[in-house]
Amino acid sequence: MQNEQLIQDKQKKYETLLQQLKSLLQDETNKIAILSETCAIIHDVMGFFWVGFYLVEGDELVLGPFQGSVACLRIKKGRGVCGTAWQQRKTIIVPDVEKFAGHIACSTLSRSEIVVPIFNVSNGTETDYRPEILGVLDIDSTEISTFDEIDAKYLEEIIDTITRL
Ligand code: SME
Repeated sequence: MQNEQLIQDKQKKYETLLQQLKSLLQDETNKIAILSETCAIIHDVMGFFWVGFYLVEGDELVLGPFQGSVACLRIKKGRGVCGTAWQQRKTIIVPDVEKFAGHIACSTLSRSEIVVPIFNVSNGTETDYRPEILGVLDIDSTEISTFDEIDAKYLEEIIDTITRL
């Protein structure tokens, strides 16, 4: 019962967040403004420790807009959780960062993590179209096992929403 309540509370927070984000960004087209506002709203509403974007530049991810403490600037493809999500083209949930081989520890306070790739959905509609990856959304928590499929679903929806602006 308590667990169900927690799930409902989380869903409600994400639903509110999505509505706020859509109304805040409805007329915005500037990429930096959109990414900055998105990580600020996720950070404020969900209370996560670190929320930010890494953007693809050549064979590396480079730190973009974020909310939280100082972070590493560049991550190679396939390295850490971020580089792995980029390489594997899928959302990765890490319940315990100490158990993820190759995890890049930007802060010792970070205990669990979720990384969502950002697909370029704006060009190409054919079914075999393989959209390029523009970057990733990286979220860290100071608690173990913070993220689950609900977070993945809503964060993917948030990313899908902002890439269509
Ligand atoms: N932990 C990440 C690196 C980025 S920081 O958490 C902000 C990783 O392993 O990809």
